[in-house]
Amino acid sequence: MFDSFINTLASSIDARDKITAGHSSRVKLYSMLIVDELGLDEHKKEIIEKAATLHDIGKIGIRDSVLQKEGKLTDEEYKHIQEHVQITYNILENIGLNEDFKEINEIACSHHEKYDGTGYHRHLKGEDIPYGGRILAVSDVFDAITSKRHYRDKMPIVNVIDILLKGRNTHFDAKLVDVFLKIPVNKIVKVFLTENHNKLKAKDDKTLSKYNLSDIYNMGTKENPTEEEKEIVSLFNYYYSGKQD
Ligand SMILES: [Fe+2]
Repeated sequence: MFDSFINTLASSIDARDKITAGHSSRVKLYSMLIVDELGLDEHKKEIIEKAATLHDIGKIGIRDSVLQKEGKLTDEEYKHIQEHVQITYNILENIGLNEDFKEINEIACSHHEKYDGTGYHRHLKGEDIPYGGRILAVSDVFDAITSKRHYRDKMPIVNVIDILLKGRNTHFDAKLVDVFLKIPVNKIVKVFLTENHNKLKAKDDKTLSKYNLSDIYNMGTKENPTEEEKEIVSLFNYYYSGKQD
């Protein structure tokens, strides 16, 4: 009952915001990869999973003209969109989560906090940000910058990783960035592929399982990569680009 209620809430935001449809589900999947890498217990995993699914639910309270806007937001519009965190809080507060699940709200409402205290909406800093919220911050940004928008192509993966690396200790908890960059890329590629019909070929699955995002970054930024290294980077990019259809 609780699970289907949560999924219904999550799909209502996907229906409102076509641009980011699928976002919550991918943020959940990336967060679960981090959680598994950290070896957190089942209860923590469940809490973070639900928080990830619901983190942007407050966007149902944001005006369409702002939510669907393709160009740059004005200051006023940006302030309005930031309100989605407070709305998420209000919605989850009204559900009346019991003691075991109260943390879901804390975590969901911390996904825009930054490690150096410059985020929103409570301007929490460092370890004051709930651990799950710090995990969501990494997954949320990674999905936002690796997703294709109809007004721009996907960002090259090296630039994506650069953003994560530059955000260590400013935007993100550095330890969690490092954990994320150690996840085998076959698992990351499977999240990319959740929404199209392409399957990761067994042979490629095996090849990509030997590398992580840090390896892709090193091979992709090398001055003189070997032929083998070039092939691995382009195999990753083949799945990342989404152009294999
Ligand atoms: Fe958000």
